[in-house]
Amino acid sequence: MRKIYATFLILAVYSQCGYTQSKINPDYIRAKMQWFADAKLGIFIHWGIYSLGNYSESWSFHNKGVSYADYMKQLEGFTAARYEPQAWAKLIHESGARYAVMTTKHHDGVALWDTKQKHYSVVKNTPAKRDLLTPFYKALEKYGIKKGAYFSLLDWSYPDYPAFTKDSIRYTIADDPERWKRFLKFDSAQMAEINQLVKPDLWWFDGDWEHSAEEWNAVGIRQELLNANPSVVINGRLTGFGDYDTPEQNFPVSRPDFHWWELCMTTNDNWGYRKTDSAWKTPYEVITIFADAISNGGNLLLDIGPRADGTIPEEQVHILKELGKWDNKYAKAIFNTIGGLPQGHFYGATTLSKDSASLYLFVPARTQGNIMVKGLKNQIKQVIELGTGQELLHKVVGKISWSPVPGLVYIYVPAGVQDEYMTVLEVKLDGPLQLYRGQGGLK
Ligand code: GLC
Repeated sequence: MRKIYATFLILAVYSQCGYTQSKINPDYIRAKMQWFADAKLGIFIHWGIYSLGNYSESWSFHNKGVSYADYMKQLEGFTAARYEPQAWAKLIHESGARYAVMTTKHHDGVALWDTKQKHYSVVKNTPAKRDLLTPFYKALEKYGIKKGAYFSLLDWSYPDYPAFTKDSIRYTIADDPERWKRFLKFDSAQMAEINQLVKPDLWWFDGDWEHSAEEWNAVGIRQELLNANPSVVINGRLTGFGDYDTPEQNFPVSRPDFHWWELCMTTNDNWGYRKTDSAWKTPYEVITIFADAISNGGNLLLDIGPRADGTIPEEQVHILKELGKWDNKYAKAIFNTIGGLPQGHFYGATTLSKDSASLYLFVPARTQGNIMVKGLKNQIKQVIELGTGQELLHKVVGKISWSPVPGLVYIYVPAGVQDEYMTVLEVKLDGPLQLYRGQGGLK
């Protein structure tokens, strides 16, 4: 797992970048990250020539599952003929997501915009023949959705990039440092083009693992992006010189210790569209995973893989719409909240309002009956089911008058208030949350 030591690292980076005091200020970083922390849900889009659906994105030729020539033949079939960027943005909006991250260029090097560099693009090399990024990001703006640009630092197709397939390299940096410098120049020219074209709010790097931070000039890249947009958010796959961490497909069990994090996850088993992949996650699974992420103070970046013609598989549309129905219904407990109770207090996901005077309990699987919360020192003013507004009964069990240990709170979830997926309760407290974390007894 790629780990970043958020605040410490960021401060180190900012000082290396020669940033002024005001910008080194942790308040500045926190302010810059606020929209991201509040957003909770993003939609990831993997779209490229691999979206014909026969081979996995880039890796298939790198790992020699298909020859490079056959992989690149897909250029001829990438039509984007039924691409409706407005409809994509509308669907993303409906899902409740506050940001979207699109693959501007994957490891195969094919740009989805009209790159001025001498390299592949869907404009020059495919029947799509047009810039696919601009209309999409424009549509996102219309819905107030933040714009994220996925960009693969490594480029297995570029003649000046050292690695090609898993067992063949073109050269090593030690042998030809000038050639590597040419690659870096090319890569940053492409980043500058994207900055100009779509002004991303977030850069989502990938493919950093083949080189060190020094080789990539990670500090320099970060500085260039901040020069273009001082409040831009950068993911951690810039050899750690980003703002947040990105556990991929792997669900944290204990709460991650980095400050900002985002779980990126596929809706089936692939990032890009695959004809043969029917391992769809159900809306219930996606919703419970999402609740778990926000409970632990993170975001979910949920991936979709449109087909080469621009249509989105029905199963993904279904997942996004169901997710949207649910997170719009329970928006108050999801967006603009903070991570919930530490483990041990409630057997399920929780979040808190920013003033921590409201505790939200996520109750899965159409639970009916008594649920329990431990270690709550506060008095409860009221418990309601958020979807229906119905007030629920609760009682405190086993409070010993002379002991500082709080009693157990039992909340009765009656029949009829259950959400199809996950019911959410608001526990209104008498003030900011106060927890008992002891071991019982007299302590
Ligand atoms: C990995 C893969 C890549 C995918 C990405 C998404 O790093 O290299 O194919 O796009 O994860 O998180």
